[in-house]
Amino acid sequence: MNKPEPMRILAIETSCDETAAAVVENGRKVLSNVIFSQISLHTLYGGVVPEIASRKHIEKINQVITEALNQADKTLDEIDAIGVTYGPGLVGALLVGVAEAKSISYAKKLPLIGVHHIEGHISANYIENPDLEPPFLCLVVSGGHTHLVKVNDYGKYEILGRTVDDAAGEAFDKVARAIGLGYPGGPKIEQISHKGNPDAIAFPRAHVAEAAYHFSFSGMKSAALNYLNNCRMQGIEIAQADVAASFQQAVIDVLLGTIKKALDETGIQTFALAGGVASNGTLRKAVKEALDRRGVAFYCPSPILCTDNAAMIGAAAYYDYMAGKRSGLDLNAVPNLKLGEA
Ligand code: KG4
Ligand code: ZN
Repeated sequence: MNKPEPMRILAIETSCDETAAAVVENGRKVLSNVIFSQISLHTLYGGVVPEIASRKHIEKINQVITEALNQADKTLDEIDAIGVTYGPGLVGALLVGVAEAKSISYAKKLPLIGVHHIEGHISANYIENPDLEPPFLCLVVSGGHTHLVKVNDYGKYEILGRTVDDAAGEAFDKVARAIGLGYPGGPKIEQISHKGNPDAIAFPRAHVAEAAYHFSFSGMKSAALNYLNNCRMQGIEIAQADVAASFQQAVIDVLLGTIKKALDETGIQTFALAGGVASNGTLRKAVKEALDRRGVAFYCPSPILCTDNAAMIGAAAYYDYMAGKRSGLDLNAVPNLKLGEA
């Protein structure tokens, strides 16, 4: 008997400062994953400048897609559907990917699937883990989001908790900037924290009393900023590595506390991390150790699949496609798209 032809998706991601395209087979096999990072362009400004991001996406998108097809050794004639992030994100940045995806879909008469960016981050876990299937609990920690999500089935999400103010990655970026480490701060905090003492400074571990699974990072960030201001006012030399290590540990403790609570209360035995902050080695290790002790199965994508990429969009688009979801050529960018509305 002939093997069935794989379902091949060309996926596009342009929600923030990465111009990315990938070819993914059956939602789990990545044939190519091309990422053009604009980080060096935005570093000068200490954060992402939306107008610069959109312009660079326009400049790079065709090149990145061609490269993704070449690396996969496929032509557009061998693609079965187009998946694209249509929200949440920067509107001008999202529009570039959406317009591109619609054009290819129209020209090649291919089905179009609009994907929610967070659904993409969660689905990154399917790529390297053929055994992972819903239901599972997933903590998405990125620059724009901190969501604790119960994945009931493919494409079926229940948000148990979210940040009430800053996202975890945003807090890392702001504290890093205040210490003088530059943008993006998360990786820089991790790097320097290896030389620091996580117990040097007792930053608060904030919990949202009325909503057990919600997070709040703005108070923790302010505590770090106040600490730095006090040091400067008193002429005390700032031990960058100690501040970084202590702040990172405070964030990890808060995340870990909520993960444990949610696992205890839901009885779910499978847990996954996702999003840019999930590439933090100290966080991954701490979560793995805690879950190993409880006998809970732990998943986390490779760092390159944690930060923004299009392979994760291809994975999510496949399960949306299998569930019969299709977008029309009227698909638009939705900057504040909510998970579950996709
Ligand atoms: O998922 P992502 O690439 O983009 C969003 O959807 O936001 O996440 C980017 C965020 C940034 O805030 C960045 O500082 C953070 O992830 N990040 C990290 C690390 N690598 C990236 N945070 C902590 N440790 C890291 N190693
Ligand atoms: Zn992201």
